[in-house]
Amino acid sequence: MSLTSPICEKMGIRYPIFGLAHDIDVMVALGKAGGYPVFGAARSMPDEIAEVARIMKSELGDRPFGIDLMLPSTVGDDTDRDGTKSNLPEEHKQFVKELTEKYNVPKATKPTFFSSQIRSQQLFEEQLAATLESEAHSFASAVGMPAEMIKRAKDYGKITFSLVGAPRHAEKAKAAGVDVIVAQGYDAGGHTGPIGTFSLVPQVVDVAGDIPVLAAGGVGHGRHIAASFGLGAQGVWLGTAWLASKEHALCDALLNKLLKADSLDTTISLSHSGKSCRLIKSAWTDEWDQPDAPKPLKMPYQQVLTADIIAGINEHEIEPLIYEATGQSIAWFNELMTVEEIMQRLVSESDAALSNMRNLLAS
Ligand SMILES: Cc1cc2nc3c(=O)[nH]c(=O)nc-3n(C[C@H](O)[C@H](O)[C@H](O)COP(=O)(O)O)c2cc1C
Repeated sequence: MSLTSPICEKMGIRYPIFGLAHDIDVMVALGKAGGYPVFGAARSMPDEIAEVARIMKSELGDRPFGIDLMLPSTVGDDTDRDGTKSNLPEEHKQFVKELTEKYNVPKATKPTFFSSQIRSQQLFEEQLAATLESEAHSFASAVGMPAEMIKRAKDYGKITFSLVGAPRHAEKAKAAGVDVIVAQGYDAGGHTGPIGTFSLVPQVVDVAGDIPVLAAGGVGHGRHIAASFGLGAQGVWLGTAWLASKEHALCDALLNKLLKADSLDTTISLSHSGKSCRLIKSAWTDEWDQPDAPKPLKMPYQQVLTADIIAGINEHEIEPLIYEATGQSIAWFNELMTVEEIMQRLVSESDAALSNMRNLLAS
């Protein structure tokens, strides 16, 4: 039995396994392994997006790839990061100062996306323009899906994906003319809604009608892939899976945390971006959960507040505090593998699960 579905032919890929990462080596490896890579560009400047697309095109040739942006409509037009930072509440600035001292976090020596930018509608527009003008085959939108942007992407000939966390979001995506809907459940790493994947996917499939649906959130084993077909999806979309890949080359402090983790080691927290986001538990999430901690600020202010300390934590690998967006599927990734090996494991497990299902139903 071979793992395939109609979306493979439609997209020109071998396996119905789609993956998002913010790392280009991971994405190139996924494309070469027969999956569909979608580079997460929400943390990239427009010129970086153009460069990522150029590299992916030259590495992948005719194989398709996409670019994903986060486009929350609740974020405003403020582009003055320094001015915004100085006006943040004193209580929050003091809390971050205390964390910096308590955990001896040195200053970062290099700027990061968040330590130099504030998310704004202007930045989103520039990121979108770079994405649409690139050779990416598709455009994926998450945490917001302005219908006008979907139309523009289609005018550029892009296939459009929309990540949704509720049936009503799927209705919006359908009305906007999206080509593929990704039903991303509560189990997922990253920004996520409250509906579990098992409950969400069939509801989104029912809304989607002829539009293909991918199941996302908690997919870590081929049995999940087989189950996703049972729920009506045509494929799966994974994020956590690639964090523990050799290509991702995460620093040891973070990688060791992830390899040891199980599903209980992730938590939903507002502390990353101000929106509900599933992260690996760490002293960072614990500190923000304390009863006397301030309530995280709304997007984009939380990342203006925390960008400098986060840059220091990541650059200097401050083990207790370091964290990343991580889903409950982390339980299935406890050994460092290449992306190709992860793909082969998922494919062979799926084949076995599908054939077990057939045997079970025939007996
Ligand atoms: C480290 C990480 C970063 C993510 N960043 C984004 C992002 O920028 N845009 C997006 O649409 N989804 C993002 N996601 C969510 C994924 O697209 C995907 O829906 C999710 O990871 C699926 O669940 P899983 O983590 O169980 O595989 C991210 C997930 C992870 C783990």
